[in-house]
Amino acid sequence: MKKGKVTKIGVMTSGGDAPGMNAAIRAVVRTGTYNGLGVCGIMRGYSGLIENDIHEMDSRSVANIIQRGGTILKTARSKAFTTPEGRKAAYNNLKQHGIDGLIIIGGDGSFKGAQTFSNEYDIPCIGLPGTIDKDIAGTDVTIGFDTAVNTAVEAIDKIRDTMDAHDRLFIVEVMGRDAGYIALHSGIATGAENILIPENKTDIDDLICSLSEKEKRKKLVNLVVVAEGGEYGDANKLAEIIKERIPTADTRVCILGHIQRGGSPSCADRLIASHMGYYAVESLLIGRHNVMVGVINNKIHYTPLDKAVKQKQTIGQEWMKIVKILAS
Ligand code: F6P
Repeated sequence: MKKGKVTKIGVMTSGGDAPGMNAAIRAVVRTGTYNGLGVCGIMRGYSGLIENDIHEMDSRSVANIIQRGGTILKTARSKAFTTPEGRKAAYNNLKQHGIDGLIIIGGDGSFKGAQTFSNEYDIPCIGLPGTIDKDIAGTDVTIGFDTAVNTAVEAIDKIRDTMDAHDRLFIVEVMGRDAGYIALHSGIATGAENILIPENKTDIDDLICSLSEKEKRKKLVNLVVVAEGGEYGDANKLAEIIKERIPTADTRVCILGHIQRGGSPSCADRLIASHMGYYAVESLLIGRHNVMVGVINNKIHYTPLDKAVKQKQTIGQEWMKIVKILAS
């Protein structure tokens, strides 16, 4: 299949689901049909592509989904697509359906697969950043982060009520395998005393010292928000350390888990998903290939797929200083 005028596109969601993926699918399908393109939905990401689980879609197929969490196309992480045989089967299925452009809504792992596939088979691919972790280079926002962080805030606010009633120390573990954005944002927004994230080294003695000092001056309600991927990201293990070193603290743990991935997308996520979905199709139409559509400084920004990798960055130390001051 040669690059040229795209006539029929395939859309899929891949990797961890994120609220707003449905809004992005809707935008892709409707922009595609508006422009006279055929559109196919590929079920379960690359797994469905390999297994030929591919279905024609039209404007009606995406009615009443903009407000729904999860993804109507379902999602998966495919081992088979990492093999040349898997990608060959995927290509044959695309050819059979006459699909000559692909839109992949997912994270950096999904983009890596798209890049390899596109190099091998010359299929134009466009990525849309869909992950609650907000850890992709080339975009300030990812589809799902805003909803996930607001879910965490809502939950932590509730924990604070019971925590305050009992004068307790709570450790709340939020998602973020490699990134601390959910922890940082939700922690600041809920007035956490300490926030532990993978981007920063945690000085456990310093943490214990600050919590003990608060205990001494009878500040008994203390909230520690940890990102699961950090050095002390396992809230239960951290609680054991704290209980051992500050036995007087009445310590409890709450792991928010997958609740953060579900739910109706926020207005912000619906907007960015709609915006990015529209530009993904536009990109294919004008021959812009193998890029991720992102947003930087409120403007659409295109990043080559091989550069749209997991963002390893240091989260501003200034924020950590502010957290300390505001929690005093
Ligand atoms: O989508 C990203 C993420 O939510 C991470 O923060 C988390 O570690 C991971 O997915 C868990 O995914 P799963 O349970 O699907 O393996």
